[in-house]
Amino acid sequence: MTMFGGFFEGKKILVTGVAGVKGSWLALALLEAGGEVIGLDIKSPEADSNFSAAGLGEKISFVQGDVTDLSLLQNLMRGVDGVFHLAALALVGDARQRPLETYCANTLGTAAVLEAIRLSDSVKYAVFVTTDKVYKSKGDEVWVETDPLVATGPYPVSKACAEYIIADYYRSYLRPAGKRIGVGRAGNVIIGGDFNSSRRTGGAGRIFVDCVEALMEGLAPEIFTPKFTRPYTYGLDILAGYMSLMSQLDCEDVDGEAFNFGPHEQYGIENALLASEICELWGNGVTWQSGTPRDEPFEKQSLSWEKARERLGWQPAYTLSEALRATVRWYREWAERGKAAGEGGMYEFNRALIAEHLAAVHELGVA
Ligand SMILES: NC(=O)c1ccc[n+]([C@@H]2O[C@H](COP(=O)([O-])OP(=O)(O)OC[C@H]3O[C@@H](n4cnc5c(N)ncnc54)[C@H](O)[C@@H]3O)[C@@H](O)[C@H]2O)c1
Repeated sequence: MTMFGGFFEGKKILVTGVAGVKGSWLALALLEAGGEVIGLDIKSPEADSNFSAAGLGEKISFVQGDVTDLSLLQNLMRGVDGVFHLAALALVGDARQRPLETYCANTLGTAAVLEAIRLSDSVKYAVFVTTDKVYKSKGDEVWVETDPLVATGPYPVSKACAEYIIADYYRSYLRPAGKRIGVGRAGNVIIGGDFNSSRRTGGAGRIFVDCVEALMEGLAPEIFTPKFTRPYTYGLDILAGYMSLMSQLDCEDVDGEAFNFGPHEQYGIENALLASEICELWGNGVTWQSGTPRDEPFEKQSLSWEKARERLGWQPAYTLSEALRATVRWYREWAERGKAAGEGGMYEFNRALIAEHLAAVHELGVA
């Protein structure tokens, strides 16, 4: 089955933040689409990670290093056609504890990637992954790409600053040099292989991971902000958005643009509903309970992705329920077989999930 119009076939792609959740799935999806992947991350992949579960260490060229290191980036970009920049301190609560580190990685790191692209003879395409948290709260209204980037807090501000730098590099250097770039602002991702629970991250974890972690141990998940809504979207849908974006950067109305990517449920989903569905899918009769409230940037998050639909032909292939089913299946498989199988134990299972998602995408007739 041709994917993304064959754009990635034979292309050499650099993924920053490849040891992370999205980076590891993106590397797999790029391999499936016929690309060659070079991956950069500051940490060596953890044993409990999708990177290790998928055995990516043997399938891509992995380099451990800091995304702010310009000469390293220049070396890595030799002969590279495209760059997906994902490396970041990606947890809001974690960023709040480490503001300077966050600004270095998220803002300066983005500037370093832009500079390396400016100096590169080969890189023509780049997609920069920021976040929907660059916007300011609009209550019940949906965020659109023309909304001002008036974020608060280290994570949102570091990403908003990165966006200003991206826009300036694009105008001043990259567009005049014929290089094409896009920005992806996604909602909250749900997908297997995320181990960022509150327990593992000093209280900064993701709610769906907290749920799965507790349920695996037969405990009741504690949900800290049950009434808050988030635009939870299946990870492979978001990655299909980023790949769709890169593959269409030669189009006038795509190059240099930012795109929101979110779920069918544009007004977001309550954390309580998310937790209830996960508990039901897990099926051991355990249900969630309210935990201590935690400081979160927005009560409501609603995301319009009309622009992505109109210009990229993108839309999410999975509903929330389908996304949760696929996600819960991943953790069950990992708990029952993948973890014991060790490095690479989830590779074939991950490929099957990617193929199922691709089939759903083709059934919808979207890009
Ligand atoms: N997961 C979500 O819900 C979500 C939503 C919107 C946007 N995003 C963005 O998507 C991207 C990926 O997020 P994720 O959920 O996979 O997070 P993640 O934490 O799993 O992955 C980020 C990776 O970047 C690496 N990294 C951090 N600082 C680095 C540095 N200085 N040099 C090199 N690597 C560095 C980390 O080690 C990590 O492996 C991030 O830019 C994040 O802000 C994530």
